[in-house]
Amino acid sequence: MRTTILDIQKMKRRGERIPMITAYDYTSAQIVDQAGIPLILVGDSLGMVVLGHSSTVPVTLDEMIHHMRAVVRGSQQALVIGDLPFLTYTSIDKALHSAGRLLQEAGVQAVKVEGGAAVAPIVRRLVEVGIPVMAHLGFTPQSVNQIGMRVQGRRAADARQIIEDAMALEAAGAFALVLELVPIQLAEAITKRLRIPTIGIGAGAGCDGQVQVWHDLLGLYTDFVPRHTRRYANLAETISAALQSYASDVRSGAFPTEEHGSKMDGEALAEALKPFATE
Ligand code: KIV
Repeated sequence: MRTTILDIQKMKRRGERIPMITAYDYTSAQIVDQAGIPLILVGDSLGMVVLGHSSTVPVTLDEMIHHMRAVVRGSQQALVIGDLPFLTYTSIDKALHSAGRLLQEAGVQAVKVEGGAAVAPIVRRLVEVGIPVMAHLGFTPQSVNQIGMRVQGRRAADARQIIEDAMALEAAGAFALVLELVPIQLAEAITKRLRIPTIGIGAGAGCDGQVQVWHDLLGLYTDFVPRHTRRYANLAETISAALQSYASDVRSGAFPTEEHGSKMDGEALAEALKPFATE
């Protein structure tokens, strides 16, 4: 049985902290499930960490659906949440169409949207028709061209706006709220004021849960560690060392050996080679 949004909300009430991680394909979804992480986000961060764009802005709904399908196939326990990409929820009708595709074609159980009170009517309508919505405030990557990539809400007026937005999103029916790159004290204050769980990234330990990007957490970059990340592995190094050993074994003839292949009957081989006899 998959985790549900009600399970997630219960976790907040019980004071259980909620781990969440992004995943973008079948294999990683299987690993997340086996690790017992209850929430998978197929984030539009895939535009950057999987597709190599410099922001999430170019990501399309079709690309998201392609990856979400694989994640849903790879997981059985986790609640899978799919990001609605840039410009796919600019009106209620558009949001219904886009979110509907994520649930019906990709099979995710919930969607995530970025933005404050302005998206609350969209959240409300999605929830009314039965689509669970996770909200996302603070640094919202789809607006990077407008707000830059930096901590949001340091000044009193901005912090107040984020609190008001959080309350509007909860009132609209969002089942949880991602807080990205907001000051630790602000995230704590919001978490105390909301009944729904907050999931932080670069927002401190006062949130009800934490989300991290797969590639950041597992050290899949060779050159870059975002400040909000702790590397729990250095897979780029591990993979690179494995690839170098593989290439070296191929070059030296140490791989493959007989155990990596299968043999045929000698007579069948001789028969097969008859028409191609060289002398
Ligand atoms: O796209 C994403 O991965 C996200 C998380 C960073 C919250 O939105």
